[in-house]
Amino acid sequence: MPPRHFLTGTELTAEELDALLDRALELKREPLSSNALAGRSVALIFEKPSTRTRVSFDVGIHELGGHAVVLRSDELQLSRGEAPRDTALVLSRHVAAVGLRTGADAILEELAAYSAVPILNMLSAGHHPCQALADLLTLREACASLEGVRLAYIGDANNIARSLALLGSLAGVHVALASPAGYALEDDLALPASARGSVTRYTDPYEAVRGAAAVYTDVWVSMGDEATAAERRSALAGYRVDDALLNAAAPGAFAMHDLPAHPGEEITPEVLYGARERIWDQAENRRHAQKALLEWLVA
Ligand code: CP
Repeated sequence: MPPRHFLTGTELTAEELDALLDRALELKREPLSSNALAGRSVALIFEKPSTRTRVSFDVGIHELGGHAVVLRSDELQLSRGEAPRDTALVLSRHVAAVGLRTGADAILEELAAYSAVPILNMLSAGHHPCQALADLLTLREACASLEGVRLAYIGDANNIARSLALLGSLAGVHVALASPAGYALEDDLALPASARGSVTRYTDPYEAVRGAAAVYTDVWVSMGDEATAAERRSALAGYRVDDALLNAAAPGAFAMHDLPAHPGEEITPEVLYGARERIWDQAENRRHAQKALLEWLVA
């Protein structure tokens, strides 16, 4: 049987996503209750910097009884031209799963094509599905059921926006994205066949947040976008999450951010460190959601 992979998140059915979030809540309550990785190792390859992803996977794998082999890509022969295919064939002989953070979705796809063990996306140019799992877990904790919940995403429709659209709609969430021209999510994004929610695009952030239970944002200058930082800051200046925008959302609405944040740009310090955020819960939930994901991948 071919291994399961997790490249975009749409490898999950709606039912599997529900079950994975249920399991993540169980693991959050009892972090040491699973030995799913006992005696097994997971390779984690980072081509880009990371704080949350690296720590949450490393600690989560340890809590599952396993061992994390954390590798910087410049330590691997990949950086000297060894083919992703050969890397996949070799790693498959040693570890139970391989995670990769990369700028190139094509490398993930090539690893997945040749690996005998699950490949998981720890952030790519196109997707950040592990972050979206943690975000849905955070929404579930706040809203009990995800079916029909409205989540507003404000700003650059980057990899995390795409993953929220794909996985959120699969979970039954209505995702409202507000972005300026040139920074919007592609019109032809195909939602999963079993999506129960929806994705709607706006340019006005105040329209997007109307009725939203949560208001999400991300940095204006993502990793790799540094060359266009000035024009991005100019284009996205009207897309800051502040108290006024939160006030326009549903009563009790809270702020979300995948971090790292640039307070004063996409989010105000008052919101980031205020009473209406669940941002630090999101950061913690990376570990619980990813442990449930690892269980599903190696099952
Ligand atoms: N949100 C996120 O992926 O954080 P890191 O880049 O620190 O891993």
